[in-house]
Amino acid sequence: MPLMYSQRLRNGSPLLLGAIAAVLLANTAQAQSSSEANASSSVGSGIQTSVFGHLPDGRQVDVYQLTNANGIELRVTNYGGIILSLKTPDMDGKFDDIALGFDSLEAYLSDEYRQANPYFGAIIGRYGNRIAGGQFSLDGETYSLATNDGSNHLHGGDQGFDKVLWQAEPFESDAGNGLVLRYTSEDGEEGYPGKLESEVTYTLTDNDELMVDYRAVTDKATPINLTQHSYFNLKGEGSDTILDHQLMINAPEFTPVNDTLIPTGEIRSVEGTPFDFTQATPIGERIEQENEQLAFGGGYDHNFVLARDNAASDELVLAAKVWEPQSGRLVEITTTEPAIQFYSGNFLNGDLTGKQGQAYGHRSGFALETQHYPDSPNQEAFPSTILEPGETYRSRTVYRFSAQQDLGS
Ligand code: GLA
Repeated sequence: MPLMYSQRLRNGSPLLLGAIAAVLLANTAQAQSSSEANASSSVGSGIQTSVFGHLPDGRQVDVYQLTNANGIELRVTNYGGIILSLKTPDMDGKFDDIALGFDSLEAYLSDEYRQANPYFGAIIGRYGNRIAGGQFSLDGETYSLATNDGSNHLHGGDQGFDKVLWQAEPFESDAGNGLVLRYTSEDGEEGYPGKLESEVTYTLTDNDELMVDYRAVTDKATPINLTQHSYFNLKGEGSDTILDHQLMINAPEFTPVNDTLIPTGEIRSVEGTPFDFTQATPIGERIEQENEQLAFGGGYDHNFVLARDNAASDELVLAAKVWEPQSGRLVEITTTEPAIQFYSGNFLNGDLTGKQGQAYGHRSGFALETQHYPDSPNQEAFPSTILEPGETYRSRTVYRFSAQQDLGS
């Protein structure tokens, strides 16, 4: 039975949250304010809180370490909601950190990092991916956003949700150990209309899942497209490329782009193209083929339209699977979102050095970002990304980590 989850609730339709509501309520009751976090405290087995550093304006940034019953360990900071590390076992039970990132807050605040802007591990908002020309019209008004990616707006602007301090509450619940992050984006922030109150919950379950729940409300109509920008290398971060990882994307179609990576509006079948990942295929197998779309992206950097069949918009469906043959590690991603951006780490160029002291080279990590389509505010035929006052934006993505000798079917 697929897990039901209510994604967009319109005009006071009854809340279908069921068990999840109960979990969230329990979470709130058990939550401990991040202001109580000090040098190194624990909120019980499985969650440890410590100080990560301070922002230039003096605000304290914390790090939360969540561990599940099988020893999987996730470290998250409330700066940008960034996943700093994720340790999972390979098929021999050996744990490695599979998430690209850094050990210090300074590294995330550095000029080198801000220039390269890979968004390692971060929450992306208010709008994941690009908005053409940094402009859109809504209810007869034109809004101008930062053009922080050539002539386009990318990942929420100059100071998107990846570069703000979130208010954090760790919790332990029947669902797992977790962290609720809250951020209020003021009306006009980064050019967007409406005061947006957003909440992202990370839950690490004993079923070896990382569950990411997004929720937001606004006081004026606004575009919204929240996602998570973790890069994984299933051999362990700091290893060589991800080109031998086998990828399956449950997508019969993708949205081709122009040379600035804005969708043309076409929804194209993947059949017979290097974008056909409906059967697991090594990422590197076709990445160097002569193909206009691959040339525009410098590799894969495209939005794939998921096969949701008749699934309700609030139902989790399989989006992608990635398996790495040496370690046997497998990640399976399910989501309530209609699409996923597959980015093969084409802009990584060895300039940034990660946790093992290894440079993050070209295509040494991949990102799979569940989302609505890029540039939807300017593309009427795409599913709407407009959140109206009185509605609640809800989205869920689940990553399940395991290891096995072969991928099977
Ligand atoms: C997304 C974009 C890419 C790139 C990365 C971050 O995946 O589509 O073009 O900007 O984020 O480097």
